[in-house]
Amino acid sequence: MENMTKKRAQSESIEPIYSRRSLEEPIPKYELSENEMLPSSAYNLIKDELMLDGMSRLNLATFVTTWMEPEAIKLIQETLDKNIIDKDEYPQTAEIEQRCLLMLAKLWNAPKSDQTIGCSTTGSSEAAMLAGMAMKWRWRARRKKEKKGYSKPNLVMGINVQICWEKFCRYWDVEMKLLPLEKGRYSLCPKKAMKLCDENTIGIIGILGSTFTGEYEKIEEIHTELDKLNKKTGWNIPLHVDAASGGFVAPFIQKKLKWDFRLKWVSSINASGHKYGLVYPGVGWVLWKTKNDLPADLVFNVNYLGGQMPTFALNFSRGGSHVIAQYYNFLRLGIKGYTRIHDASSQVAIYLAKEIEKLGPFTILHGGTDLPIVSWCVKKGKSFDVFALSEQLRHFGWQVPAYTLPENLTSMSICRIVVREAFSLDMANLLLQHMETVIENLENIKLKNPSKKKNSSTFHH
Ligand SMILES: Cc1ncc(COP(=O)(O)O)c(C=O)c1O
Repeated sequence: MENMTKKRAQSESIEPIYSRRSLEEPIPKYELSENEMLPSSAYNLIKDELMLDGMSRLNLATFVTTWMEPEAIKLIQETLDKNIIDKDEYPQTAEIEQRCLLMLAKLWNAPKSDQTIGCSTTGSSEAAMLAGMAMKWRWRARRKKEKKGYSKPNLVMGINVQICWEKFCRYWDVEMKLLPLEKGRYSLCPKKAMKLCDENTIGIIGILGSTFTGEYEKIEEIHTELDKLNKKTGWNIPLHVDAASGGFVAPFIQKKLKWDFRLKWVSSINASGHKYGLVYPGVGWVLWKTKNDLPADLVFNVNYLGGQMPTFALNFSRGGSHVIAQYYNFLRLGIKGYTRIHDASSQVAIYLAKEIEKLGPFTILHGGTDLPIVSWCVKKGKSFDVFALSEQLRHFGWQVPAYTLPENLTSMSICRIVVREAFSLDMANLLLQHMETVIENLENIKLKNPSKKKNSSTFHH
């Protein structure tokens, strides 16, 4: 049997790839096949199937990096074997992770960067879980010390938080206290948020870059209100900033914005290295202002990889190459490089917003001035909606998401474009041309089929 397989592989290896038996016969997709196949056959089979995936650079829905320099890619490929947890075997990878953390602490204006503590993660979602746990643990310790109940923790945030915070609350048994949005207000209202707080509030989440619209929540104002509340009540509620996108944008192109560790009650910050940190997925970061902000009993020490290793992460093993790629970007770009890149994206986003508005049927919700993101809705009385626009743009290859806003504003549907590095002005103009064609088509459909509108669900998902 083994001999037969070998012989077949040998004879197959001289055949042209697409005449090989393994590529002519159906392959078992849902159970392991009995036999091996040649590496080049497996490679081509999978590569071909993946051609059906979208083109990541045309995906204007994602916040995640879709372009990196060849040198960064080379470094990633060369370090794929490194396990970030194994600090004894890969001490330099561990050192590089620490350097990145110190750089971020400075970037986010920690009063004493050597007093901060943090770690890399798979992304902002894992970072959110860790930050949320630290808030819950600190609150519980305080309640125990005060001999008060600790069975009903809650977290205060806007309903526009990313799903990771809902996950955190469900997985860690914390009540979500969500402030609804209102027409014209698509982020957290600082004063109203305070009304949701009580002695069981483990923290407040402020978002530096809303996933829905791209606008920054007013972190400094939230902080001012929180400071008043904490002074009045003695609750000492911390503010966590979910800077998944903005943590890598604001320090470079909105330098005057005060949102970070300069604010007294900001105890922790998360950001995605794989968003505007400009690394391929997945790497994220979470940092606490001081070592006291991360309860010691959440950190485990293991000795079975040789040496004593503190670990605070949901996973144990994880690839180290993306942390190395983050360090590559930090070295390669520095402050000037990041500023140049994000400034360019920001200019493209602002340009796009102006041009989209000029097209006529749309109202801009966020015009690229915070995150380089444009979001808009269709004006009342138009014969098509954002879902139709999104669907038609797909025919040109563009992925522009359309979605409804959360509870309270579910009747409002919007489109969003995330401008990232390598989305040039030239590409923006191509997109605008296609948008113009699509609008014309959609408006013509209406004219040709005036009676269809009432019953048709053509434009509604
Ligand atoms: C504000 C915000 N927080 C958290 C996340 C989750 O980040 P990740 O995909 O890195 O887990 C996102 C993702 O878009 C986000 O926009």
